[in-house]
Amino acid sequence: MIAAALALSACGGGGNSTSSAVTAPAIPSSPAIPLSLAAQVGEKIFSDTTLSGSGKMSCATCHAQSAAYGPPNDLAVQLGGTDLKAPGTRAVPSLRYKEFTPPYADLLDNPDGISVPGPGGGYTWDGRAATLADQAKIPLLAPNEMANASAADVVAKLQAAPYAELFRQAFGSAIFGKTDSAFSSALQALQAYQLEDPDFHPYSSKFDLYAGNKIGGTLTMAEVRGMKVLTDPNSGNCASCHYQGAGLNGSSALFTDFSYQAIGVPRNVAIQANADPTYFDLGLCGPLRTDHPAAPGNAFCGMVKAPTLRNVATRKSFFHNGVMHSLEQVIRFYNTRDTLPEIWYPTVGGTPKATADPSFPTYGLITTQYVGGTVQKFNDLPPQFVGNIDTQMPMDGRAAHSRPPMSEQNIADLLCFLNTLTDGYKAPATSPTSGACIQ
Ligand code: HEC
Ligand code: HEC
Repeated sequence: MIAAALALSACGGGGNSTSSAVTAPAIPSSPAIPLSLAAQVGEKIFSDTTLSGSGKMSCATCHAQSAAYGPPNDLAVQLGGTDLKAPGTRAVPSLRYKEFTPPYADLLDNPDGISVPGPGGGYTWDGRAATLADQAKIPLLAPNEMANASAADVVAKLQAAPYAELFRQAFGSAIFGKTDSAFSSALQALQAYQLEDPDFHPYSSKFDLYAGNKIGGTLTMAEVRGMKVLTDPNSGNCASCHYQGAGLNGSSALFTDFSYQAIGVPRNVAIQANADPTYFDLGLCGPLRTDHPAAPGNAFCGMVKAPTLRNVATRKSFFHNGVMHSLEQVIRFYNTRDTLPEIWYPTVGGTPKATADPSFPTYGLITTQYVGGTVQKFNDLPPQFVGNIDTQMPMDGRAAHSRPPMSEQNIADLLCFLNTLTDGYKAPATSPTSGACIQ
């Protein structure tokens, strides 16, 4: 068998793209190395609900093992805080395949080696945490997440935990004597756990079998076509931002290049902060990140990190604001954001039709058809930043009611391929010859 090859198209902050082919590299084997003491402590902390202001919330509450360490429910944002009633402002990302994320840089070399450098790397949707240890500090202390009063509060709870002795073994018998060292050891422990435990990077999807030329890894015709849509610069072009090919430390494809773009995801009224019409989540320009001012002319405002597409078919809310709830809807948004903006963004000033035309699609966020009025396209960005919207395919700014880049067949095939990125794949004893995603 020949090694799997994906055509990769380039992705820069600006949108000039070329293409080339890369070979999917060998999948790292995961030898059963026992977790280090630090990682063992991290494993305990990860699911310890006593380390929260409510006494009921741990990392695992929002990052559930059963959901690829993403949210266990379909809420756009989770509830936390001391009373578990304080809403978040962003969707919970999966914690899988984060191990090669470089620290954030305004001009990060794109891993494809082709694109011009642009904003990339870092943890959270806006990259404000440089390492997994840095990141862990945020939820432990955020008033709407685990809501501990202070680092000292966390350390006191650790000292009372059943694994306090393990903590001392890992970090020294005097570790609880110094709050700062003890707190940063806890953060290091969480990082070690996420880096060392193979369950955070199992590479056990059908795609991984395929990429490694392993038994059971033969993609169906539909899946192969879907992979082509993902990489084709003239239709899906997803790979332009969601593909990282050859070998970061021999890893298989990560399905993100860690880059940032503004793609104009619609505003989510289900997020409480959005009740304030002057509140905007501008990603790199804050409010959570504070080093890029939300000033007119700042090209970074509105950009968020392109997440990995691994395990994306297991998610129930999508994008940084969780505004969409099915993968098919996300693909349809990419396809028709420009050609049918009225099904994604609200219309003001028009008259709603009592019954929509039979041709009016019902797969969008807006299912009421209007006569007249103005579509508030890009309604989650202040007008001065609309110029920051990326213009790469599949959202190349084509005219409303023109033909979208992907066909119905392309969409169905792409969905089939994205489903091959789900971990824990077990090849059937006999390959089916009919049914969805086969022919
Ligand atoms: C209340 C829900 C909640 C809890 C509890 C929580 N997280 Fe998160 N996590 C989130 C959200 C929401 C984000 C995205 C934050 C952002 O973009 O600002 C996130 C982001 C992350 C990221 C960055 C992932 C990426 O793609 O860049 C890591 C790593 C992470 N969390 C680890 C943890 C750890 C470790 C804990 C426990 C100490 C934890 N989380 C507790 C909701 C939660
Ligand atoms: C120009 C770069 C770019 C292209 C091209 C692109 N994406 Fe994205 N994608 C992003 C960014 C940036 C985000 C995060 C946007 C946000 O949350 O506001 C994202 C988010 C997503 C998500 C949500 C994942 C999650 O965890 O919530 C999915 C699914 C997705 N993209 C699939 C695709 C598919 C399928 C294609 C091709 C049809 C595609 N993308 C093309 C940049 C891109």
